[in-house]
Amino acid sequence: MKINEPVACVLGIVALLGCLVLFTRGEDGEGATPPAPERRKSTLIETVAIGPEDHCADCHIPETEAWEMSHHAESFRSRHKTAEAKAILDRLGLRSMKRSDECISCHYTAVDDGRGPQARFGVSCESCHGAAASWVDVHNRPGGDPRRDALRWGDGRKESAEKKATRIHAARALGMIDSARTFDLAERCFSCHVVADGTLIEKGGHPTGQGFELLSWSQGEVRHSYLSSGKDPMDAMNVAASPEHRRRLYVLGVALEIEHTLRGLAGMGDTSTAAGSAIRQRLGEARRKAQAILERVEIAELREIVEATPVKDDPAGSSPELFARVSDAARRLAEVDGSALAAIDELLPTEVVGAVLDPEE
Ligand code: HEC
Ligand code: HEC
Ligand code: HEC
Ligand code: HEC
Repeated sequence: MKINEPVACVLGIVALLGCLVLFTRGEDGEGATPPAPERRKSTLIETVAIGPEDHCADCHIPETEAWEMSHHAESFRSRHKTAEAKAILDRLGLRSMKRSDECISCHYTAVDDGRGPQARFGVSCESCHGAAASWVDVHNRPGGDPRRDALRWGDGRKESAEKKATRIHAARALGMIDSARTFDLAERCFSCHVVADGTLIEKGGHPTGQGFELLSWSQGEVRHSYLSSGKDPMDAMNVAASPEHRRRLYVLGVALEIEHTLRGLAGMGDTSTAAGSAIRQRLGEARRKAQAILERVEIAELREIVEATPVKDDPAGSSPELFARVSDAARRLAEVDGSALAAIDELLPTEVVGAVLDPEE
């Protein structure tokens, strides 16, 4: 069985936590035995993740260096030791951040070596690009043929567009979320960065993730667009997103913020709580941003989202059908022509979150 997580998200099967990770068990016979249900709770863990070391780092040297500098990587070494982490765990009656499914799903990459999923890295390559066991030896081979020798980093430039498309297509079919899949990559961010678990927030005192913004948060320490520089590996630079892509990321971020906060509220049940009001506030803010965009430029997909979603911040009108519609509009939004959106430039954040490694501006 293979359910990919965008589909799982669209279906809204699991309110929030489940969106970010997937079951891709049993593809190659490994892990075909269903996990013990009491260990999993509602949280799905990316069990076929293989981890960046040895598996991605060998070839993706600059990307790995950038990742190593990010909080996503660093967090594995330090976050669980902080007073904040201990306080959250205490309040929830949990003992270990790295051993609790309640935390692993968003904070770690879990690798399953037969003893059940174990947190081995922070948020890593596969948290965003998809569990790689099935595609790692396909995405880098000519024609996507695992029997061929691997290409070297940057060799993709020498391939014909057709050959490259065949290779990428083969890897996508196995779950790779490549850089052109802007929507699916962004979905990943929101599935972790909108924290809408009432228990985690109210009882645990965990932050809601308020303040997350797609453009500024993806173009700072998270950015690793080295291949796009078209240079050789040793000279590769971390290229900034084009003005067109920046506009797209900003608008897409607003749309996904609306979608994910609404999903969060719908999954909460009782929203008259402090957690409910915190998420409602995020939703309200995203709506205001959407209005400001629509005052400057007409974007049919964004208008569709604003008009389809409940005005009174009331999740009662939310349904799986609504989420599917919103998600579909957001997916189309990720493809809009950014060159027609210059009118929103004044709304775009100018700062980025964290330091860019090897920037080429
Ligand atoms: C839905 C995803 C999600 C889950 C589940 C989750 N976290 Fe987090 N956590 C985040 C995100 C995202 C941040 C960063 C928030 C930010 O910087 O905006 C964070 C931040 C933190 C921080 C830093 C808080 C601070 O005040 O700086 C701690 C500590 C933490 N989480 C502990 C935990 C523990 C312990 C668990 C399990 C009981 C857990 N988290 C479960 C997503 C999650
Ligand atoms: C044996 C070398 C090798 C390994 C190991 C490897 N890659 Fe790659 N990867 C490549 C090559 C070659 C390309 C194509 C580069 C090009 O287009 O020039 C590539 C491309 C990519 C792309 C970009 C595709 C696109 O066009 O957007 C992503 C994302 C990616 N790899 C992620 C990973 C991840 C994650 C891992 C570890 C799970 C990994 N790779 C392991 C060699 C490798
Ligand atoms: C699997 C869950 C997950 C995914 C997917 C994810 N993040 Fe994160 N992110 C976190 C957590 C957890 C933290 C907090 C880490 C810590 O410091 O303990 C974080 C921290 C960050 C930070 C550092 C914030 C700071 O306080 O300095 C940035 C920037 C960031 N994420 C951006 C992104 C972007 C952009 C995406 C999507 C391209 C993304 N994240 C995808 C879970 C995730
Ligand atoms: C927080 C999410 C996140 C993590 C973690 C992450 N990536 Fe990416 N990656 C992205 C996004 C988003 C893009 C698309 C960047 C763009 O096109 O603007 C991308 C693009 C890429 C590309 C294509 C870059 C280019 O220049 O065209 C490669 C290759 C890649 N990632 C490999 C990796 C590897 C290897 C790791 C781990 C060492 C990793 N990524 C970790 C989100 C992530």
